[in-house]
Amino acid sequence: MKQVGIIGGGAMGSGIAQIAATAGCKVILFDTKPEALELSKEKLTKIMDRLVEKEKLNLTEANAIKSNITYTDNLKAIAKSDLIIEAIVENLDIKKTVFSAIEKIVSRECIIASNTSSLSITSIAAACKNPERVIGIHFFNPAPLMPLVEIIPALQTTEQVAKDTRLLIDSWGKITVLAKDTPGFIVNRVARPFYGEAIRIFEEGIADVATVDWAMKELGEFRMGPFELTDYIGHDVNFVVTETVFKAFYYDPRFKPSFSQKRLVEAGRLGRKSGHGFYDYSENALKPEPRKDLVLGKQIVTRILAMLINEAADALFLNIASAKDLDLAMTKGVNYPKGLLAWADEIGLDVVLKQLEELYTYYCEDRYRPSPLLRKMVREQKTFF
Ligand code: NAI
Repeated sequence: MKQVGIIGGGAMGSGIAQIAATAGCKVILFDTKPEALELSKEKLTKIMDRLVEKEKLNLTEANAIKSNITYTDNLKAIAKSDLIIEAIVENLDIKKTVFSAIEKIVSRECIIASNTSSLSITSIAAACKNPERVIGIHFFNPAPLMPLVEIIPALQTTEQVAKDTRLLIDSWGKITVLAKDTPGFIVNRVARPFYGEAIRIFEEGIADVATVDWAMKELGEFRMGPFELTDYIGHDVNFVVTETVFKAFYYDPRFKPSFSQKRLVEAGRLGRKSGHGFYDYSENALKPEPRKDLVLGKQIVTRILAMLINEAADALFLNIASAKDLDLAMTKGVNYPKGLLAWADEIGLDVVLKQLEELYTYYCEDRYRPSPLLRKMVREQKTFF
């Protein structure tokens, strides 16, 4: 049986602890704040009670899961772990200090992983004397419910460590994809145009937010519209990710953040949590009606989808992940109705390329440049699958 040490008992650490404990691992959950540990324990108890109520677990199983987790504010308690997963504050210097401290306590064989969503795994690994056992294991929120996990080997990670880690997380019932250590990994990179292009359409006055959301849901079959979704995620969080990815790509215009979202953050209109974002959530607010114009709706979906496909194609071009993993990541990590590359095959790669070329010609902006891979595949009359 594996022993797993979790560092940080916040939203993600608690969820990951629940997954590992459910898979039968002994879990040591460490946090510097006793109140965070208390809260994490309370949350797990509530979740277990609910699962028993819904007859998803019986009482014995729920009790076994609860007893698999030990809560501690003493770092030394993680010493015997086979795997450590760090889920503390998103700050490179703090993560480096913590990784260096962990390495001094655990065995030479212990794999040390980070759940970071935006920092370089290679850079975190560099804080360790044995960086070859450091890896990224990126869960999605809420971790127990979202099936996808991105596995990100650092430049220093051995193939064996990457293989063993992937097998272990697979055995926990998760769907794993392998991603290169580049900004945003797969999901947070490929999904950028879902927000960015929608905001651009809104800024240009082509359509209002309700119409864009209607089009993406009704015609595109996405579960949520881009504006509803960013209001739900929180503009503070979504804007920081956009800005981080933009900077990390050395200011590639494809990832450029928008002023509309920046202003929302400045105004404190963070979305649902603050009662106002792109939409007004106050009690008496009128919900804006979409313009249900099929031609306009199709234009919106076509444009955002072409940009998403271009991003997925470019990620494949740069060997960020395999075509299969790129599609799995978007369907299992952010619930897209279809994998973007399979979707491109269905539409026809020549059609997608033409849409991008039209945008590129019209705007003369690098943002709309088609991926060289897309061009090459059209030339060679190939498909992704
Ligand atoms: P959180 O703020 O809910 O929890 C962080 C916890 O870490 C807190 O309980 C805090 O007391 C503890 N902590 C801080 N410094 C510590 C230290 N030096 N040693 C031990 N414990 C420490 O944060 P959340 O949302 O759980 O995020 C954690 C990590 O997971 C971050 O790296 C974040 O980028 C990543 N992540 C977050 C997702 C999300 O949607 N919230 C999704 C995927 C990854």
